[in-house]
Amino acid sequence: MAGLIITNGRIICPRTRRDATGDVWIEEGRIVDIELQSSPTNSGGRNKSASMATGKPRNQFEEIDARGCIVSPGFVDLHTHLREPGGEEAETIATGTAAAAAGGFSAVCCMPNTRPVNDNISVMKMILERAQATGSVRVFPVAAVSIGSRGEQLTDFEALKAAGAVCFSDDGKAVRTETLMKNALEVAKRVGSFVSDHCEAWNAAEDGVIHDGSVARELGIRGLPRSSEDSMVERDIRAAEQTGAHVHIAHISTAGAVSLVRHAKQQGVAVTCEATPHHFSLTDEAVKKYGADAKMKPPLRAASDVEAVVEGLADGTIDAIATDHAPHLASEKAQGFAAAPFGITGLEAALALALQQLLQPGHLDWFRLLELLSSSPARILGRPDLGRVDVGAWGDLTILDPNQEWVFRASDSFSKSRNTPFDGWKFRGRVRTTLVAGKVVFEAGAMRPGGADH
Ligand code: DOR
Ligand code: ZN
Repeated sequence: MAGLIITNGRIICPRTRRDATGDVWIEEGRIVDIELQSSPTNSGGRNKSASMATGKPRNQFEEIDARGCIVSPGFVDLHTHLREPGGEEAETIATGTAAAAAGGFSAVCCMPNTRPVNDNISVMKMILERAQATGSVRVFPVAAVSIGSRGEQLTDFEALKAAGAVCFSDDGKAVRTETLMKNALEVAKRVGSFVSDHCEAWNAAEDGVIHDGSVARELGIRGLPRSSEDSMVERDIRAAEQTGAHVHIAHISTAGAVSLVRHAKQQGVAVTCEATPHHFSLTDEAVKKYGADAKMKPPLRAASDVEAVVEGLADGTIDAIATDHAPHLASEKAQGFAAAPFGITGLEAALALALQQLLQPGHLDWFRLLELLSSSPARILGRPDLGRVDVGAWGDLTILDPNQEWVFRASDSFSKSRNTPFDGWKFRGRVRTTLVAGKVVFEAGAMRPGGADH
């Protein structure tokens, strides 16, 4: 396999805190050399004639000119719904990972609420085989905490972990009881994993549709209260504290939950959390404009919650940006607001929203932004070989043009589904190229045939 050199890019690695212009040399899937133009010890990356690591001449490497672009670690999504098996009309592993590649994600964690649920080895194996055969990016399956995600009996964590589970979740619902959560955390800790929880009280989850606030009252729609999330976050923190195990809070959405996590971290509890682009970009007002394409769980909340989420992303309380990419059929979303399923697609607009809502207004800098998208989720997954632009790491990289102006069109999406409120939004900053293990999987708006060899 030919090597690859990415030349003249602004290399920003949040893990090594490197921000410098230079060339990245990749061989056999891994980064073998980084030549910085400003480095006093060499004459400049552009002039280097051979790989420092292998001595291979430059002309044996394919070259990608990244002038004017940023070279970041490939993004890692902790929360993606790929829908295969069972929901292939809305998304498949092939289309969902293509959307991921287009969004700059070189790895996605796929949630277990498929049909059947990923609560056993045979579903796990099937997902991994399909990912190998049809996926464009790395697929890290999340296994269910409980059989059928019904909240009764724990799955076989040990066997599922051995088969490839990166963590455990009953996403779509919370882990049902505190006792079950504690048991799950104990076992997760024993097998070297963690539990990601969708924090929403079971009783409150039943008939609420949007955030319980002024918009719900105005529209006469049943609300989903903040307390339903906050009480579960509180419970999970308590369970993590008592077991000494790691709990991860999925798609955090309330100011109260953010401050609970902040406080728990100060106390040394092993808690991490993620926030979605929609929860830092939109309030419940969006429901009036976008209808069912602004319906998801947890719901879009008030401006004060959005502010708290942004603050949490900036100050380190929130560890990762995760998309909760949740494709649904147009026919299902058209059933009327109350009956439409919860969820929106998220992979392809994630970076653009993060730039628009977080970086461009100055809430955080490039290091922090790229950390939230790459090195921090990689760290949560225990993968130091991902989420860094550094010699020895995998050549999983995202090349992005920070100045390109573009319009996101749902109709151009690589996802099978179109359920997004961001259709037609104008952005500055776009993914140009996504590499997985040194292979280009997406480039300039198109998928590269062949997919990832990972
Ligand atoms: O909005 C959501 N959609 N939230 C979830 O937790 C599940 C997801 C889905 O699977 O559609
Ligand atoms: Zn969820």
